[in-house]
Amino acid sequence: MRITETSDMWWKNAVVYCLDVETFLDSDGDGVGDLAGLAQRIDYLAQLGVTCLWLMPFYPSPQRDDGYDVTDMYGVDRRYGDPGHLVEVIRTAHDRGMRVIADLLVNHTSDKHPWFVSARRSTTSRYRDYYVWRDTEPPDTSDQVVFPDKEDSIWELDERTGEWYLHHFYRHQPDLNVANPAVVEEIIRVIEYWLEVGMDGFRVDAVPFFVSDVETGAGQHATDPHRLLEQVRAFLVRRRGDAVLLGEVNLPYADQVRFFGDGEGNQLHMMFDFAAMQATYLSFARGDARPLRDTLARRPEILPTCQWATFLRNHDELTLDQLSEDERQEVFDSFGADPELQLYGRGLRRRLPPMLDGDPRRIRMAYSLVFSLPGSPTLFYGEEIGMGENLDIPGRMSVRSPMQWSSGRNGGFSSAAPSRLPRPVTGDGYAPEHVNVADQTRDPGSLWSCIRSLIWLRRTCPEIGWGRYEAIDVGAHQVFAHRCDLEQAATIALHNLGPDPVVVTLPPTGDDEEVELVDAFDHAHLAAATEPVDITLDGYGYRWLRLRRAGEVIIP
Ligand code: GLC
Repeated sequence: MRITETSDMWWKNAVVYCLDVETFLDSDGDGVGDLAGLAQRIDYLAQLGVTCLWLMPFYPSPQRDDGYDVTDMYGVDRRYGDPGHLVEVIRTAHDRGMRVIADLLVNHTSDKHPWFVSARRSTTSRYRDYYVWRDTEPPDTSDQVVFPDKEDSIWELDERTGEWYLHHFYRHQPDLNVANPAVVEEIIRVIEYWLEVGMDGFRVDAVPFFVSDVETGAGQHATDPHRLLEQVRAFLVRRRGDAVLLGEVNLPYADQVRFFGDGEGNQLHMMFDFAAMQATYLSFARGDARPLRDTLARRPEILPTCQWATFLRNHDELTLDQLSEDERQEVFDSFGADPELQLYGRGLRRRLPPMLDGDPRRIRMAYSLVFSLPGSPTLFYGEEIGMGENLDIPGRMSVRSPMQWSSGRNGGFSSAAPSRLPRPVTGDGYAPEHVNVADQTRDPGSLWSCIRSLIWLRRTCPEIGWGRYEAIDVGAHQVFAHRCDLEQAATIALHNLGPDPVVVTLPPTGDDEEVELVDAFDHAHLAAATEPVDITLDGYGYRWLRLRRAGEVIIP
């Protein structure tokens, strides 16, 4: 592999940063974050080392699901600025070497979308078939709803026409009928539009819910979401060869891997690794590397053009739905025993630092681990400074509080009265006076500085994103040790998930005597790779080692 390939298939070595314009920075003092504010912070993100911004929905929306309920797929919500401001953000990001992707919402629209407004008016509306209807009383589907606190059926009766429409999410988010070729055309048009505006790809929302198989009463309504993704992918790469599709597909590996395209690599380029994320929390709860190691051992092989996105937190509940009931309970017991901290019986509404009792050793180890795992790491805004959740904000939104820039008014997010903010700033121990960008960027010992070093180190280790992963047995179950190899380059990482110091023996690496082990952070020589080497790890300590070959003055 040549290093230049990392700019060809850039997503294999990306560091993705997810943010919501609404809560990032308010530039005009109206209380709401805006695109002009984001533009002011592009240099901050470049300084951190992020290579790809993922913008949560900025489209016009009644905001009943934080913008995931769209009324115009081509627009920019006026509260955030106008389309010109978005173009400025994209241009500035590109200038600083960052790509920009946006949420693509094609599973459903808002019920206020003109298509649905027309569709529900009469059964003969030209938009009627943009959605999925049934004319007989639906059976019990309470086990299929995504938000069981608000919904008990995936069908909602529409009084006017006396038929029921499908909605896997909230009843105000009717599912689009992607079996209708006219809807597929609309989706493709939306994709082309944003590519022309300058987007570098999409985070594809709710992929497994693209209507695949529902009983409508009039028979089975079947479409194959994989064929839809193939069409979308083919179009995307025809129009823009380096654009990427990063999909949200929270399914067990065997089902999930099919969304890369059944060995063809012709559907999604990337998918979040929900299974490994959930196993990581189980490993943290137990102080035992085995759940994560066993999960990664089950991770399917993917084609070289595909990639996993690794993460510890996203904008939703921290879902633990792929764990067994007992395992989930273990994670709840360790990180959120109070039912108030849990959601939908499957997840937690907390950010990572409070879950780890704010222990800086443990928090840093957690991020070091996720950055060392095979895949492309993804951060949710505020993780780089260790923001906490705000439990006064209901449900999943507890982690979507305003970004904390300084210890000033509203954490430097906005100059408006606090009552005008979209959500309240976090208080108590994680309030801006304790956790903010201004302090941490000036402090070489801060979490921000630690994450920044990890990002830049990770960027120089393409073997992690591209290479062959192998677990290493170092004889201590609390230590997660692994190696990623790509031709001449290799990184070995060791993470102590337990609170006590431990000495482990790294077996000879199997390389020849010309190869030596070097600490990846300070470049200190450790040992020849042919010998077993004892490595001391502090409680929650970690080390990254790289292999240096004879004749190389510096590590690759
Ligand atoms: C996805 C999003 C979530 C949203 C839902 C409906 O799961 O991550 O935030 O509520 O889709 O669009």
